Amino acid sequence: MGLVSNKQAQLEIAGRDEHALVSLLFILLKTARFVDANNSTYLTQSSKFYVVFRRLVDKYGKISIKIIDGRVFVRDKIIKFNSDGLVNATAILDNWRQIGVGGITLDDSLDNRQLDKFIYLIAKGSGTTADRESVVQRLSDLGIEGISLLGIEQKTEKKLLSEEKRKLIRRTARVTFFKSISVVQDAMVCAAQDKEIDITKARRVVHSMIDQISGNESYMLQLTSIRDFDDHTYAHSSNVCVYSLTMGVRLGFDKLRLSQLGMAALFHDIGKVRLPGDLIRKPDAFNENDWIQMQRHPELGVKTILRNLKFDDYSARAARASFEHHINDDFTGYPVLREKVPTNLFSKIIAISDTFDALTSGRVYIKKAIPTDEVLRKMMYQMTVKFDAFLLKMFVNIIGIYPAGTLVLLSSEELAMVTQNNQDNLSRPQVKIIGDRSGPKKEFTSIDLSQAEHTGIGIQKIIDPGKHNIDLKAILQMDN
Ligand SMILES: [Fe+2]
Ligand SMILES: [Fe+2]
Repeated sequence: MGLVSNKQAQLEIAGRDEHALVSLLFILLKTARFVDANNSTYLTQSSKFYVVFRRLVDKYGKISIKIIDGRVFVRDKIIKFNSDGLVNATAILDNWRQIGVGGITLDDSLDNRQLDKFIYLIAKGSGTTADRESVVQRLSDLGIEGISLLGIEQKTEKKLLSEEKRKLIRRTARVTFFKSISVVQDAMVCAAQDKEIDITKARRVVHSMIDQISGNESYMLQLTSIRDFDDHTYAHSSNVCVYSLTMGVRLGFDKLRLSQLGMAALFHDIGKVRLPGDLIRKPDAFNENDWIQMQRHPELGVKTILRNLKFDDYSARAARASFEHHINDDFTGYPVLREKVPTNLFSKIIAISDTFDALTSGRVYIKKAIPTDEVLRKMMYQMTVKFDAFLLKMFVNIIGIYPAGTLVLLSSEELAMVTQNNQDNLSRPQVKIIGDRSGPKKEFTSIDLSQAEHTGIGIQKIIDPGKHNIDLKAILQMDN
């Protein structure tokens, strides 16, 4: 079972020598700007670099150092910098980008003298308008044969294409998400009238959700942040479905199991249609009698599913999840079981998703929304006995510190929406800048706060869109 995201799994982290090579290279480039090549500090670092370089080149032949999207790779393995390293890297990377250098390869013929010439050529050229061709020419003039320059990876055209594709995927995610809400609504209306529920539509929408989430979970996750539905009952089911499927995908479920999980999540609260509408939509806190009524919905859900849905594997699993989704791992919750049988994996997944959405929306059982960070803290520390520890950890990882769709104020005084979490750096997610003090921006710009070039920007605080009159739904519906 893979807990790490695909993205993380693909990136192999560089070893000690690779780290040392880059750190020393950056130190040399920095030192060379202030002292000449006979300076003892420079010479010490230069010989250290050379020792590491020899070790690597003897082992692997050619060594490449590449910069791709603000990250540094040595031999195609990613370098993880500490904060000091990141500051150094940011300055150097900017400099390289200016002169159109996307990386270098070092080969066996590189010696100390060539290395020093190269360092000084690049360092002295920093801040100038030199272009890559002239640097290449100078390398050849100076007889530096052991180093060749790599261009900046030609991503412009690809990016334009993927930009279009990205917009299309976002649009599909939106259509799918809103469709899922109407499917739940239709099903609940049907069930309330005791008619047979046509599950073809539900299955179709669940399959679209699976495709979306398997491709990029973040678009769907962003949509779960919309809170201003007139009736949250239906959106609640869709949100629970998105969270549950995201976990299912990460658990490596096959398509059939994902499809069954999605259906179970979508119909987990269907028993509520058998309860008075006034109770479901009650704006005030529940009294004791309300709770007694409310706690019947899991059993009513089983009855509804068995009565109004065609009986098959899907409905059987959905019925079980409906029955168990409020039974905790410590057997607290409801319905109270005479025999303590552990709940099913689907039920455990849905229970976590359900609790998170209910608490953060403040629209399901408790009538006050609790900030997401507080809910996660509650779930992690106070509710650990209630949930499966492994699944809970996975869920917290998915949601992150700033869940996708959260509005945040950046240290640059700009307003941004979190678009995607970085699994290896949850406090620095990817964000979309949507406005500043002077108001909303016409063009949104996306930045990845975990990237070296954005080290200077941090998240100041979470902004409540309701309190600031910000229409999050409208922002999520924009294509850019
Ligand atoms: Fe429920
Ligand atoms: Fe629920």
